[in-house]
Amino acid sequence: LTSDNRPNVIWLHNAECTGCSESILRTVEPYIDALILDVISLNYHETIMAAAGEMAEKALVDTMKDPKGYVAVVEGAVPTAVAGVNNEPGAHGKVSGHTMLDTTVKVVKGAQATICYGTCATYGGVQAAAPNPTQAKGVSEVVPGAPIVNVPGCPPNPFNLVGTIVHYLTKGLPELDEVLRPVAFYGESVHDNCPRQEFFDNDQFAPSFGSEEARKGWCLRKLGCRGPETYNNCPTVKFNQINWPVQAGHPCIGCSEPGFWDGENWEGIN
Ligand code: SF4
Ligand code: SF4
Ligand code: F3S
Repeated sequence: LTSDNRPNVIWLHNAECTGCSESILRTVEPYIDALILDVISLNYHETIMAAAGEMAEKALVDTMKDPKGYVAVVEGAVPTAVAGVNNEPGAHGKVSGHTMLDTTVKVVKGAQATICYGTCATYGGVQAAAPNPTQAKGVSEVVPGAPIVNVPGCPPNPFNLVGTIVHYLTKGLPELDEVLRPVAFYGESVHDNCPRQEFFDNDQFAPSFGSEEARKGWCLRKLGCRGPETYNNCPTVKFNQINWPVQAGHPCIGCSEPGFWDGENWEGIN
């Protein structure tokens, strides 16, 4: 992959917490420096780029005009509500005087492909939680029909972004499920690979956090675990190759599913 043919990448930040960028900064296969210098050419990324002000804007515009084309990565949901004294669509979120809505539509429409990284960018996530006064939305809802791959999670696992990029560079867009997630990473539920599953099968449910049963590895379903309804590879890939929520004693809260944070599927778990 390392060559002068590195694809241009524009990374947009919309309504978000930057946790997604924090996660990719901790990638180890490859390390972040190798990823952004050897595998891709990260021309625009508001939180880690050296340029600022007009220089940063120039990097964005120049990349969008480059005949070689570019891939977009979007972090964060898109505020779409009409607001402000000018009744401007998307006025709740602006970078450099442009609404996130306007920039996202332009960048995604011009991209060879767009990877939405994190549940805010994919489905709205925390930013779209009720009552959602900014009318924040996921990118595929704002730019329907564009070639989009969703890599959700809050935060998402950097393994799934690097894997998606490598797949795109070597074989093109990966196979996707009905909510545009790569099947290779999101094809099985958290529950499918959970080490507490034998306790679930034996109706052994931890009664409380920190209980002896929870420490012994009993199932966290009665404490609200959404592992059976959530598709992600956390149990097999883990975060930083070390740990993941259920191993640490916390239920899966369904962070990679459409509808997270409000979670209409919670009913009936207990
Ligand atoms: Fe932050 Fe989660 Fe949104 Fe990523 S998906 S920006 S971690 S709130
Ligand atoms: Fe399934 Fe959650 Fe129980 Fe693991 S802790 S077995 S994911 S319900
Ligand atoms: Fe998210 Fe559940 Fe994994 S909360 S990080 S999908 S275990």
